[in-house]
Formats: sequence, C-alpha cells, structure tokens
Amino acid sequence: MGFRISLFILLLVFSPSILAQNSDDARLVIHTNTTIAETDDNYVCATIDWWPHDKCNYNQCPWEFSSVINLDLSNPFLANAVQAFKNFRLRLGGSLQDQVLYEVGNLKSPCKQFEKDKSGLFGFSRGCLHMKRWDELNNFFKTTGAVVTFGLNALHGRQHVGKGSWHGDWDSSNAHDFIKYTITKGYLIDSWEFGNELSGRGIGASVGAEQYGKDVVRLNSIVDELYKNFEPKPIILAPGGFYDKSWFDKLLLVSGPRVVNALSHHIYNLGPGNDHNLINKILDPDHLNKVSAIFGNLSLSIQMNGPWASAWVGESGGAYNSGGPQVSDTFVDSFWYLDQLGMAAKYDTKVYCRQTLIGGNYGLLNASTFVPNPDYYRQG
Ligand SMILES: *[C@@H]1O[C@H](CO)[C@@H](O)[C@H](O)[C@H]1NC(C)=O
Ligand SMILES: *[C@@H]1O[C@H](CO)[C@@H](O)[C@H](O)[C@H]1NC(C)=O
Ligand SMILES: *[C@@H]1O[C@H](CO)[C@@H](O)[C@H](O)[C@H]1NC(C)=O
Repeated sequence: MGFRISLFILLLVFSPSILAQNSDDARLVIHTNTTIAETDDNYVCATIDWWPHDKCNYNQCPWEFSSVINLDLSNPFLANAVQAFKNFRLRLGGSLQDQVLYEVGNLKSPCKQFEKDKSGLFGFSRGCLHMKRWDELNNFFKTTGAVVTFGLNALHGRQHVGKGSWHGDWDSSNAHDFIKYTITKGYLIDSWEFGNELSGRGIGASVGAEQYGKDVVRLNSIVDELYKNFEPKPIILAPGGFYDKSWFDKLLLVSGPRVVNALSHHIYNLGPGNDHNLINKILDPDHLNKVSAIFGNLSLSIQMNGPWASAWVGESGGAYNSGGPQVSDTFVDSFWYLDQLGMAAKYDTKVYCRQTLIGGNYGLLNASTFVPNPDYYRQG
C-alpha cells in the first residue's frame, strides 16, 4: 500500500536528526508480514467545503474561491492534483451543508446564494446548489476519476427550539428529488452522508440521536427505492460529527442493522487555528497520542452496537476555524498529518478525509495559486 511505504520512507529520512538529538542508538524494526488492520483501497480523501470567499477567522479570509459552489474546476492544477491519485476520494461537505437547498423538483423555498446573516447558522443565510453547477461538478469528477461522497442537508424541515437544539422530523423531499436527478443523469456517487456535526452537543446545531436514527432509516429507504434499477448503489454514512459515546451508540441501535454502512466522525485535535502553541502541539507525541482514545472508543461502539459499520474519518484538519495561518499550510503540519494517517489506519479506519483539498489554511492546495502545499505530497 502506497501510504505505508511513504510513512516508512519518512521515518528513515527523519531518524538521523532524531538520533542526533538523543545521541542514543535506535533500531527500527518493521514487521511487514503482520497485518493489524486494512484500509480501503482509496484510503486518502480530501474535502471540498461550502464556505464562501467572505468566510473569515482571526481577521483573515483564507477561503478565496474554493467552495463547492464557486471553485474553478477548469484550473489544470486542480484536475492534475486529483487525477494523480487515479481514484481520489472527495467528500463534499462542511458547516454550511445543512443550510443548502438543491434547486430541483418541487422545491418550495427560494433558492439563493449564501449571504452573510448574523441570525443564520454560522453567520450565513441558506445557500443553493443549482443543477447546472451540479452537472459541472460531476463532469469534473468523471474526468478526474474522483470517488465522491456527498453530504446532504440533514436539518431541512426541522425547527430550532433554542440553545442550538433542533427538533422535528427531517423533510426528505428536497434530498429525494436531488438524488433522483443525480440518478437520472447517470452520475456515480460512492456515498451519501447524512448531516454535518449535528451529533452530541453539535457545533452550531444538534439533533437528538433517536430522531437522527429514524431519519437515517428514512434516507436508507429513499436510496433503496431510487437505486432499485441503478448499479452501483451508494453506501450511507452518518453522522459526520464529533464522537460522543452515548449519541453514537444510540444512533446505531435506533437505525439498526446495515442502515449506516460507515460511521463517519470528525477530528480537530490541535485546537483553534490561532493557538500560539500550535507548532509545539504538532511536534509533541504525547499531545498527538491523546486522540487515540477517540479511535479506540469508536471502534468499541462499532463492535458492540454496529458490527456491520466501518469507521471513517470524514473530516480532519488539525486546527479548527480554518486551520493555523502559516502553520497548517507548511512542512511542519506533516508531523500531525502522517501521525493521523497512521493512527487512524491502525484503528481500522477505512477512509481518512483531510480538510481540505483546497480552501482555508489547511488546504492541500493553495487556495489562490492552486499550487500543492507540503501535505499534498504526504499522501502518495
Ligand atoms: C514476521 O517475521 C518475523 C521476522 O522474520 C518473525 O519473527 C515473526 O514471527 C513473523 N510474524 C508472523 C505473524 O508471521
Ligand atoms: C472512552 O470510553 C471510556 C469508557 O467508557 C470513557 O471513560 C472515556 O471518557 C472515553 N473517552 C473518550 C475520549 O471518548
Ligand atoms: C498561497 O500562496 C500565496 C503566494 O505564494 C501566499 O502568499 C499565501 O499565503 C498562500 N496562502 C495560504 C493559505 O497558504
């Protein structure tokens, strides 16, 4: 597997400097004849987010035009970066996904672009995915061989009842029409993901696990029905949020056998992007190891309550709030990234999606020049 080989080479490259500091001899033994876990063939994955160009953190607006809605798909650097991996996984999703409407079918609400809105979730109004843009995106996916995960709006139809808590059934009609359109056009989607960061206490918004479980069963029956005469049938991922033991356990119990095919979770184990200690954290093995507790607990949740599901990291960018300026886009970030790729693989994670392919400070590609940053080269 390519990923294992590059990790091995990196260790060899770095060991002399580590040795020089300790002055002790060290021996590295790698037993290549023992398998501890197996990743999916397309383990490495990266995300494309919805943030518009006026999304800012810490008086900086590092997203440029990198959104699902406005990314320049004709840029040759972009196509080459995706194509270089033969079947690169892309996950389309992020904070604003649960405010996106699809302009298709019987949509009754107006379909408008994201605008700054203080009263909106994450400071933005609802947004719109036009089918013309969806066609362009799918043309890009097809020509570059990308394997696509699409994150659906899982808040549609619910009511905000205060303190970020959302109640009521999911309105599946718009998602239904969107999936139907996708099938009619013959577009291949590897997986449909239900919601973004609505699990546990949520980031911005939350939905109870019992309600979420019922709604993901609904999504599953929609997918079953619409894909009756279409192969291959996509798998279903949920919840695309931060691990919370009782919430995740309940989701698996309520949704039941073989509904959630992959339990997707998010990781930001370096803290906020403006942390002055960011580089120290990246270079501190004790800090990096802490998050292994999450991986361990998540695999227990799967073993006990959903042995049919696999584990995916659906989004992981190291530092949150768009990443660390002059850190997440530089060489030092690789110490965090490679550690994560190895750790997740060890805990039987099948797919690991890096936030982001492009956009924010943690992009694998620079959002203005589209030139690869050091971490892009860590995935080969
Ligand atoms: C793997 O190889 C090592 C060294 O040759 C050997 O000691 C060990 O028993 C092998 N392990 C397995 C599981 O075959
Ligand atoms: C993991 O599970 C143990 C046992 O239930 C619990 O004490 C611990 O807080 C959990 N840790 C995380 C990070 O979920
Ligand atoms: C992108 O590249 C430009 C030009 O080299 C640089 O000034 C900018 O800081 C980079 N942006 C990020 C987010 O790395």
